[in-house]
Amino acid sequence: MVKQMSIEISPLTGILGARADGVTLSSSMDPDLVAAVRLALVENEVLVIPGQDLSPAEQAGFSHLLGAYSPVPFVQPVPEHQEVIKVVKEASEPDAFNFGGVWHSDFSFLEAPPAFTVLHALDVPSVGGDTVWSSMTAAHDALPDDVRDALDDVVAVHTASASYSPAQQELHAGLSGMNIRTSESAHETRRHPLLVTHPESGKRSLFFNGTYVRGLHGKGIGDGTESGGREERRLLRWLHDFTTHVRFTFRHRWSNGDVVLWDNRTTQHVALNDYGGLRRELNRTTVAGSAPVA
Ligand code: SIN
Repeated sequence: MVKQMSIEISPLTGILGARADGVTLSSSMDPDLVAAVRLALVENEVLVIPGQDLSPAEQAGFSHLLGAYSPVPFVQPVPEHQEVIKVVKEASEPDAFNFGGVWHSDFSFLEAPPAFTVLHALDVPSVGGDTVWSSMTAAHDALPDDVRDALDDVVAVHTASASYSPAQQELHAGLSGMNIRTSESAHETRRHPLLVTHPESGKRSLFFNGTYVRGLHGKGIGDGTESGGREERRLLRWLHDFTTHVRFTFRHRWSNGDVVLWDNRTTQHVALNDYGGLRRELNRTTVAGSAPVA
């Protein structure tokens, strides 16, 4: 256990995830405490801070201490604050698609994807509804040397088309508490390097997620289009299976009041849809990042 000022950081696995105690999050936190939270977050990739009670405005205010607001496409904000979205599935919607219910890194299809996400649990089910994260630094470091070398010049093509194009409107219609507006703009594509360097820690990581990466471009691989070649499809599948392997993961069982922060530059996550007949509600903010660098 490492003690920094009043903050205590305890690792939750040997791979990623830590718990911070002795912190009350607010928009007026001591800058040294904010720096300690940020350091723990970047080092551990996911940081669980239990026992918080933030209004949407306070959550946005705290998020600003980590960086600027990161624009949220497709998902409409809560009426109380334009920077906060609600992640909610009602007890009466057991069959609805879970928001965040497939492995992804938040909005990786943006030119500058969000650095951090802040998720605050307001009303979580008595069982189920956990979130699982996978460490993309651990996955990177576990790559065989020859595979890492081969992937070094690969560019990944990110797009929201499989999630937020108009063909997906029906999928999102099952969530009465969320207003998700699909758009043709979801077909836009963005190229990011597959192997990236973290701008704060300098750690190398795989910037990949099977939801938004729909193509790969590189020597002998493919043309980066969704239809792609056989080798491209095989590599996409392999990357998904490899990077989400259970040995790279941390799973969080939510309690009301938890705030979990994660670094989208070094993780993927998935929200489990195993709480049919129960309600789950959390508020989410995202903090701006920069274009990923090889
Ligand atoms: C998300 O992907 O942002 C939602 C995660 C969750 O609800 O656990």
